[in-house]
Amino acid sequence: MTDGARAVVTGANAGLGLATTRALVAAGIPVTMAVRSTDKGAAAAAAIRASEPAADLRVQQVDLGDLGSVRRFAEGSTDPISVLLCNAGVMLVPEQSLTADRFEMHWGVNFLGHYLLAGLLLPTLTADARVVSLSSIAHRSAGRLDRQFGLGADYAPGQAYGQSKLCTLMFSLELDRRLRGSGSGVKAVAAHPGWSATDERPPRERGDAPGLGLVFARRISQLLGSSPAHGALSQVHAAIGAGVEGGQFWGPSLLVRGKPHPATVSAGARREDDANFLFALAAELTGCEIPG
Ligand SMILES: NC(=O)c1ccc[n+]([C@@H]2O[C@H](COP(=O)([O-])OP(=O)(O)OC[C@H]3O[C@@H](n4cnc5c(N)ncnc54)[C@H](OP(=O)(O)O)[C@@H]3O)[C@@H](O)[C@H]2O)c1
Repeated sequence: MTDGARAVVTGANAGLGLATTRALVAAGIPVTMAVRSTDKGAAAAAAIRASEPAADLRVQQVDLGDLGSVRRFAEGSTDPISVLLCNAGVMLVPEQSLTADRFEMHWGVNFLGHYLLAGLLLPTLTADARVVSLSSIAHRSAGRLDRQFGLGADYAPGQAYGQSKLCTLMFSLELDRRLRGSGSGVKAVAAHPGWSATDERPPRERGDAPGLGLVFARRISQLLGSSPAHGALSQVHAAIGAGVEGGQFWGPSLLVRGKPHPATVSAGARREDDANFLFALAAELTGCEIPG
């Protein structure tokens, strides 16, 4: 690894992001915890240091639902980056809601904020860096790219989430094609955790509006999901594992749990015409072009 290089993990204060940060620290990698709340980030860093006193951790604020905040984060990020882990995400937001820039929340946070973050940080990536994007098995039920991006009158939380995770997988595959095309050694790799019981706080405490679907999903997840440390195995493998190639998609061997294994990419996610449309739109909306 390049001297002074760091990993950047979005959503590093909780769930899979926190488990991933712990794993990277255990592997001796300095980590910048890119978090929406620096108080939560500092508390999570303190919890990690309690068991890993030598951990090289930095906490830096970013709200992925605010493109201005993403730009400020990138301006303040000058160290070389060996791993950019685009992990933060919102899931099954009960009511249609918008980011600071008036994009649908799932699409804006899970995809567009990370598109801009990766685009702005590309010049600071080391020659052999990896950009890891978190998708989900839910991308498969999304079908093809829906060009309403969650802003239609027929908002459904599951569909909006699935579409955002389709976009994060398409982002990873297209980013890798563009990196290869430009002769870069940087790899874009996608991962999904299967089903992991992460945020167990009640919806009101998390700031979500109460919603039966979300409560039900969380309950089932608590019963059937893997631990965050287990759920994070695939994204940790994508980030630092041996034999990982750009353009791959990793997930648990038994779909919802298990060791890291090549995962199935849906036909919709493989459509290069839709991926090019998505990149052109994201470039227009963010002012950041990722050349092909
Ligand atoms: N758990 C699963 O079974 C599962 C399955 C498939 C995919 N995934 C994906 O895995 C990733 C991590 O999920 P998780 O289960 O660990 O969820 P989680 O426990 O709810 O954690 C989500 C993280 O994202 C952060 N975040 C949310 N909105 C943000 C914003 N606008 N700006 C910056 N950070 C923001 C949260 O910060 P706050 O603490 O400040 O809210 C938190 O750190 C997500 O992309 C999710 O879609 C999870």
